[in-house]
Amino acid sequence: MTGCQIDREERRPIRGGTDQLTHFPSNISSEVLKQFPDLEMNRARSIGEAADDNILDVLEGEPTNSLRESHQQPDGVEKVTNRRKKLKEIEEQIRSLTAGPLADYRREQGFRPVPGEGDPHARVMLIGEAPGAEEARTGRPFVGRAGRLLEEKLESIGLNRDRVFITNIIKDRPPGNRDPRVSEVERYAPYLDRQISIIQPEVFVTLGRFAMSYLLDRYNLPQSGRRIGELQGRQFTVQEEYGKATLIPLYHPAATFYNPALEEDLDRGFRVLRERLDRSRD
Ligand code: URA
Repeated sequence: MTGCQIDREERRPIRGGTDQLTHFPSNISSEVLKQFPDLEMNRARSIGEAADDNILDVLEGEPTNSLRESHQQPDGVEKVTNRRKKLKEIEEQIRSLTAGPLADYRREQGFRPVPGEGDPHARVMLIGEAPGAEEARTGRPFVGRAGRLLEEKLESIGLNRDRVFITNIIKDRPPGNRDPRVSEVERYAPYLDRQISIIQPEVFVTLGRFAMSYLLDRYNLPQSGRRIGELQGRQFTVQEEYGKATLIPLYHPAATFYNPALEEDLDRGFRVLRERLDRSRD
């Protein structure tokens, strides 16, 4: 595998001129690969660019002894297997939430919950506030106007939305798009916490002040309570159960609709994300 290119944040193989898979995601150890000599070619031919994800799922689903070793985690940290399946289970739990004001509102309006979506092996998790009307109609996060701007900003730094994980702190739309209440943040927090432990992202990008506050509090950062204008675009190292991660608070894309001057800061924040991804895990 000499001379191959690695598209790190995309975790995708970069194809050589021979249409062969030239690289595996960096988190599969060479020990693992030695046990699957034919995997590279077979997988690459049959499933092309999705190969790396599928290989990860195959490997995670059927661990051999040495694979188990390679995935060993410190005590108390959940071993991450079958991420896709575990994320699906959380989606089901969110769908079956029937008590509470937001679930009642969801039912009355014929809305859907919005658990989040994206790459189960994403390096980046983007966390917004709560679904808007378009999101609640489709069950998908950031698909309205703010979502289109978000996709544009991601693409401007070479990231596709399929390769990150996008979610919200609140998984149902609040009536009239009002601000989330503390009780609602508390109600949905366990689902976000589970998504974090399953995906184990290297970088958290919060979009807007509610998601920023939730994460600052989650990590007991001394900046908790500070205004988003002071913290946006900065990087904070946080200690997760699975290792260190970076938190980058950004303005919510919708904030630029009301105050176009914020777009420059938002762009600068996305460049900070790009630079962070160009470094390996701290
Ligand atoms: N705004 C959010 O915070 N989340 C969405 O999913 C859409 C808009």
